[in-house]
Amino acid sequence: MPPAAADAPADSSVLFRSRVLFLTGKGGTGKTTLGAAIGRLAAAQGRRTLVCELDAQRSSLTAIFGKAPVYQPSQVAPGLSICNIEWMPALDDWLADIVGAGRIVRMIMKNRMISIFLEATPGARDLMLLHRVVKLSQQFDLVIVDMPASGNAVGMLSVVGTSRRLFDTGPIRRCAEEIDGMFARPDTNLVLVALPEEMVVNETLETRARVHAEIPALRQPLVLLNRATPATLSAGERSLLDQLGAQELGVDARELVEAGRWEERLETATAEALSRLRAIAAVVVLPVLARGEGAARVVGQLTAALARQSHAKVDLVGEASG
Ligand SMILES: Nc1ncnc2c1ncn2[C@@H]1O[C@H](COP(=O)(O)OP(=O)(O)OP(=O)(O)O)[C@@H](O)[C@H]1O
Ligand SMILES: [Mg+2]
Repeated sequence: MPPAAADAPADSSVLFRSRVLFLTGKGGTGKTTLGAAIGRLAAAQGRRTLVCELDAQRSSLTAIFGKAPVYQPSQVAPGLSICNIEWMPALDDWLADIVGAGRIVRMIMKNRMISIFLEATPGARDLMLLHRVVKLSQQFDLVIVDMPASGNAVGMLSVVGTSRRLFDTGPIRRCAEEIDGMFARPDTNLVLVALPEEMVVNETLETRARVHAEIPALRQPLVLLNRATPATLSAGERSLLDQLGAQELGVDARELVEAGRWEERLETATAEALSRLRAIAAVVVLPVLARGEGAARVVGQLTAALARQSHAKVDLVGEASG
C-alpha cells in the first residue's frame, strides 16, 4: 500500500516550483490541455518553460499553440517553447554525448546501438526520450512532459529500473542512472490528471499504486482533478430538489428540477472523487468549462483558473476568466 499523502502539498504552487513535470492520466482527461495551461502560467511568471510531447505522431499541441512542435524547441510565446521529442534524433543526441564529435563514428555507433537496443534493451526508445528530457531540463527552468495515457506512461517510466537491473555498467546503465537521478530530484513531479468519474478515479488510484511499486524514485504524485463541478447547492436546496422531484409538475418546472438534479449529481460526483483521491495525494481542482470552446480558449481559461488558485500575480491579459 502506498503511504498516505500526509506531507503532500495542498495547492498548485508545487507545479510552479518544479523543474520537470510528467503529466499522465486516462485518455482524454485533459493532460495536454493542462500541460499547456501550466506552461502558459509558468512562462507568464517569468520562467523559461518548455512543453514537450514524446514521439507524438499527431501533435495535440498544434491546435493549442497554432504551431506544430518539432524536435528542437521552438518559441510560441514569450518564455514559452514547445517540442516533440522523437526517438531517432534523441538517440543521435545521446550518442553525441557519449562518443563526442565525429559524425562518421556516430553513424557507425548509431547502427550498432540500434541493433543492440532492439535486441537487448527493452524500452530503448523510451530511454532515449527520457534522456532527452534530462538534457532539456538543464536548458529550461521548467519542462512539462505530456506523457501518453497512464498504462503506457508507467511502462515507459519503469523502463529506467529495468535497464538498471539489466546493465551493470556501460553507457545504457549510465543513461538510466541519469534519468533515475532526474526522477529523484525534489523538483521533479509526477502529475496524474483525473476526472470526477468513478472509472477514472479507479484508474488513477491504480496508477498511483503502480508508480509507487515500479518507479520508487518518483515522489508522491500530485493529482489534478479536471472538469470538476464545485459544490454550490446548499443542504436546503438539495432537499427542496428531492421534494420537488416527488411532486407532479408542469413541463417547465420539471425541466428546471431536472437541471437542478443534474447539477446535484455532478457536484456529488466531484465530492466523491475528491474524497477518494485525497486519500492518495494532494489534489488541485480545475473547473469544467462550457462545451464548444476551442482548444486554445480552454487552455486560456484553465490558465486563468490556475493563476487564481496559486495567487499568481501575473499579467494574463487576453485570457477569459473561467
Ligand atoms: N476543464 C475542461 N473543461 C472543458 N473542456 C476541457 C477541459 N479540459 C480539457 N477539455 C477539453 O477536453 C478535450 C480533451 O483534452 P486533452 O486533449 O487535453 O486530453 P488528453 O488527456 O491530452 O487526451 P489524450 O489522451 O487523447 O492525449 C479537449 O477538447 C479539451 O479542450
Ligand atoms: Mg493529449
